[in-house]
Amino acid sequence: MRSNASPDRSVDIDWIEVPPDSAQLDFGEAVREGLSRASKTLPSQFFYDAEGSRLFEQICELPEYYLTRAEAEILERAAPDLAVRHPRIETIVELGSGSAIKTEVLLRAFLETRDGLCYAPIDVSRAALEESIERLGRDHPELEIRPALAEYEAGLAELRALDLGPTLTLWLGSSIGNLSKPEAAAFVSRIARDMRTDDRLLVGIDLRKDPAVLEAADDDADGVTARFDLNLLARINRELGGNFDLDAFRHVVRYDEDSGAVKSFLESLAAQRVEIPGADLEVAFRAGERIHTEDSHKYGPEEIDALARGASLRVEAQIRDAGERFAVSVFARA
Ligand code: AVJ
Repeated sequence: MRSNASPDRSVDIDWIEVPPDSAQLDFGEAVREGLSRASKTLPSQFFYDAEGSRLFEQICELPEYYLTRAEAEILERAAPDLAVRHPRIETIVELGSGSAIKTEVLLRAFLETRDGLCYAPIDVSRAALEESIERLGRDHPELEIRPALAEYEAGLAELRALDLGPTLTLWLGSSIGNLSKPEAAAFVSRIARDMRTDDRLLVGIDLRKDPAVLEAADDDADGVTARFDLNLLARINRELGGNFDLDAFRHVVRYDEDSGAVKSFLESLAAQRVEIPGADLEVAFRAGERIHTEDSHKYGPEEIDALARGASLRVEAQIRDAGERFAVSVFARA
């Protein structure tokens, strides 16, 4: 599907737009399904409404949240070399591009080392796409931009049909961490199936480390991450007419060393009932009962190797920050 929905530069930017998969639950259905279970849960993909996205940008600036800075440090150091080593790449695709702040250093390095470059960000947020392509288009007029307002795989399928040449696909920010390890393996395998010899997949992955450091990253002293988590309840109130009392829940974070998952929960501080008319639901909480809201998976170096091998890929390069907290891996066909 194609459209010209961009406001300012609509003349020269062709948008790809794929409506959300109707097989996927909408917010109300997901809330009803998750809060009806014996072990209550809310899916983390619903964090990112306008308020959640604003809070996430704030999280990225927190002293405890090293991930963004560690990855930016790696990309800054590695970008010139990556560009020189991959002269054939014609297109950079980005999964979940968001603000695309960290991407710019790569775009600049690749632009400097070839005649033309296409940037195809894929995101489900129209606002994030509009803002980032406006900025990138202004700062890099020679860059061809092909935004895709779509979920990852729908966007990838549309872009593949355009045949944009040898492609470097970026999956930054340890977004892979939100998938379970089997889900991540399956997703990387599906991407790998469509990779040609000159294509590369670059993935930013948070590494296993001291549990105290991991838990602090998702439970900062200023309570920004707590507000980010509680925004799920606020969003239920806003969009589904719920009557959650945000002061009656607290944000709890626990690292499970076996799975490598930092797990986030919203814990009910008292026995209470909540009405959610938009989800056609009335739900009871026991004191101390938790809603599981997020898993953020961390990997050991050998798990990253296994992720590649399992998808018939090889690790062409793996770059860590000076503090060895985060890894950027470049995968190629085995
Ligand atoms: C965007 C999924 C990478 O898990 O670190 C930040 C989201 N959650 N603080 C992460 C998040 C709590 C973040 N990811």
